[in-house]
Amino acid sequence: MTNIHDLRKSFLDFFKKNHHHIYPSASLIPQKDPSILFTNAGMVPFKDYFIGTQKPDHKKAVSIQKCIRAGGKHNDLENVGYTARHHTFFEMMGNFSFGDYFKEEAILLSWRYLTQILQLPPEKLYITHHASDTQTRILWKKITSFSDHKIISITTEDNFWSMGTTGPCGPCTEIFYDHGPSIKGGLPGTLDADGDRFVEIWNLVFMAFNKSEDGQTSDLPMQSVDTGMGLERLTAILENKTDNYETSLFRPLIHNIADYFNQAISSESLPSLRVIADHLRSSSFIIAEGIQPSNEGRGYVLRRIIRRALRYMHLLNISKKLYFADLFPFLLQTMITDYPELEQQSSFIHNILFEEQEKFSSTLHKGLILLEQESKDLKKGDLLSGDIAFKLYDTYGFPLDLTQDILKKEDIKVDINNFNYLLNQQKENSKQSSDYKNSFDKNELEATLKKYIQKTHFIGDDALSADGFIAAIIQNNQQTSFIDKGRAIFILDQTCFYAESGGQKGDIGLIKSLKNSVFKVENTYFLNHLILHEGYVKKGFFRAHEPITSHVDPS
Ligand code: SER
Repeated sequence: MTNIHDLRKSFLDFFKKNHHHIYPSASLIPQKDPSILFTNAGMVPFKDYFIGTQKPDHKKAVSIQKCIRAGGKHNDLENVGYTARHHTFFEMMGNFSFGDYFKEEAILLSWRYLTQILQLPPEKLYITHHASDTQTRILWKKITSFSDHKIISITTEDNFWSMGTTGPCGPCTEIFYDHGPSIKGGLPGTLDADGDRFVEIWNLVFMAFNKSEDGQTSDLPMQSVDTGMGLERLTAILENKTDNYETSLFRPLIHNIADYFNQAISSESLPSLRVIADHLRSSSFIIAEGIQPSNEGRGYVLRRIIRRALRYMHLLNISKKLYFADLFPFLLQTMITDYPELEQQSSFIHNILFEEQEKFSSTLHKGLILLEQESKDLKKGDLLSGDIAFKLYDTYGFPLDLTQDILKKEDIKVDINNFNYLLNQQKENSKQSSDYKNSFDKNELEATLKKYIQKTHFIGDDALSADGFIAAIIQNNQQTSFIDKGRAIFILDQTCFYAESGGQKGDIGLIKSLKNSVFKVENTYFLNHLILHEGYVKKGFFRAHEPITSHVDPS
């Protein structure tokens, strides 16, 4: 095998010769499945065939599927940078039978591809199977003539694969490759199985059941096969590497990134460079699907990935003039042959990566200072308060897992319960906010407000904070002179908050009184000549006509 393109082709060709239909990779966005945010396995586009709600055009299929594992049941985000074999984006090579062949042919095909086409030495391979599935053990013994110690029975979920909390599932058998005794790690099922010595390369799932919303498992209408092999791990084996990041998929990319950032490759810089390379791949492929960073759903997964990469750039002390977005052409070089969508979307991808860095760079630095101050007296095993983690999230744009990742080195955890409490409280407030916004009558509100103020002066061109006073407070569609809780709209005599216009979102930030009461502004918009600050009382109370200072959140 001379290169990755040939490897992809050899896999598809082998199964095509064995009467499988070649499917191109489906979108990373599951088309009909709201149960997962991203395609996280090769079987996702075929889910309806497995559960029998749709009839397949072909009963045997093969694909190389783009996958993201950065959230939900299958999440590898926190492992990236710490192991030699985890990625947030990877390519899954898989063959499938929809009610056609079952265990014996699946095992035989995988064995032939690995040992005859790729010529992997059988002595390097080990097998696991679910302890309850003795038939699979017998088949492996027959096909490989392995002695008992090479076929390992596992009693845990590791050998029972499920797509998510619901959906098709079944016992699985996995093929492992032994990278040799120079690498740390033990056989599957042992205490040090998590090391990098014995690496799972291919998972063969015998889809026989379906899990429904109520947690019940029922038999599927037919027995099917779903297999998946990570292209990156296989490449490492074929290129005689013990580490995916040392292969031709990653090495040139990491070297180009290091050169561009003017970094020597050393044991200190390498973990960060690997994270940056991995996250460049996943974020670019996600953006190529039209997703943009946001605070929920897929957009938030994307934001978490990009911001994690930016934090690793910060760790390397990369000059602020160098951009994550400018690494994209290096990725294009390595992927262009098989993924033309990257080239088609290149300026969009570049712009989105650039904008996200612009948004996060000023708060990243300030947030890190806060985190440093708040954690410096904490010891191994201590908890960072949920209030600080929430402040980092809410004011400085630190996703929770970013804060957790930073503290991981010192073995400090976050008080998640308190963090979640604060997050839920905020969500509740936002929900009330959208109900509120939809409920007020603009004309009525304007008529009320005219009595108090004709126009808000905008003085935010050069300032992120401004003094002023509260001209009016609107709560439950009515003007009020006092507020100490709940959602409201503040109208100020003058403000530095930019109002929503021309597709650009309104500013968010804080309005503070002299007594340090805090009103959190979640949106700013126009009502003719007035600028409305919509949000909720976070602390203390406010009276109409009292002096305040408005502070725009620069992120
Ligand atoms: N669905 C299984 C996995 O993701 C096999 O493809 O491992």
